[in-house]
Amino acid sequence: MMITHHTVSGAAALELLSGGTMQIRDAIPDDLPAILAIHNEAILNSVAIWTDETVDLAERAAWFESHRRHGFPVLVAVDDDGLLGYASLSAWHTKSGFRHTVEDSIYLRPEAIGRGIGRALLGALLERAREGDYHVVVADIEAGNAASIRLHAAFGFELTGTVREVGTKFGRWLDLTTMRLALA
Ligand SMILES: CC(C)(COP(=O)(O)OP(=O)(O)OC[C@H]1O[C@@H](n2cnc3c(N)ncnc32)[C@H](O)[C@@H]1OP(=O)(O)O)[C@@H](O)C(=O)NCCC(=O)NCCS
Repeated sequence: MMITHHTVSGAAALELLSGGTMQIRDAIPDDLPAILAIHNEAILNSVAIWTDETVDLAERAAWFESHRRHGFPVLVAVDDDGLLGYASLSAWHTKSGFRHTVEDSIYLRPEAIGRGIGRALLGALLERAREGDYHVVVADIEAGNAASIRLHAAFGFELTGTVREVGTKFGRWLDLTTMRLALA
């Protein structure tokens, strides 16, 4: 699928070949039920999030408020059918010495995967990271997540290494691959 990407004041609008129009914008509280559904689907059915415990709307509301308070962006991709996915920045580590490093997260609805929407969201998120007082963006990725590793590599993230067997889910060990993008 080909996508044309227009950037207007930090917002991105994309026309899909299918004729639909996708927009990337800041999340609003009304987006939280759809964000919750995507988050819980990833918890239940993937090794992208390393927990078995789903969360409720109040937890996502607190997550959203915490991002707002710290000035971390939460972006959503939407089309006529609703919310397709979201992306956010957050602290990689909370100790003050890490304050110029952020971690990115990108999650799509299962039907939206593989259509270039992840690329559009990460591009918009990195524009926002460059506007902030950040030096490095880190992506911590389950080592078998080829789509996420390839997506980050396409934006210039370098592989810094893989820590083997530091997680567990669904009865097996998980390896953590870290990627790094220097912003300046
Ligand atoms: C990871 C994710 C955000 C990527 O977004 P996406 O829209 O599906 O990916 P895109 O269509 O933009 O493709 C990005 C790149 O990955 C490649 N890719 C996509 N699926 C792939 C797969 N299963 N295996 C290998 N490469 C894959 C694409 O070819 C593209 O690379 P290219 O531009 O060099 O051809 C999305 O798949 C997703 O939400 N997955 C579930 C949640 C998740 O794993 N989040 C990330 C946690 S670290």
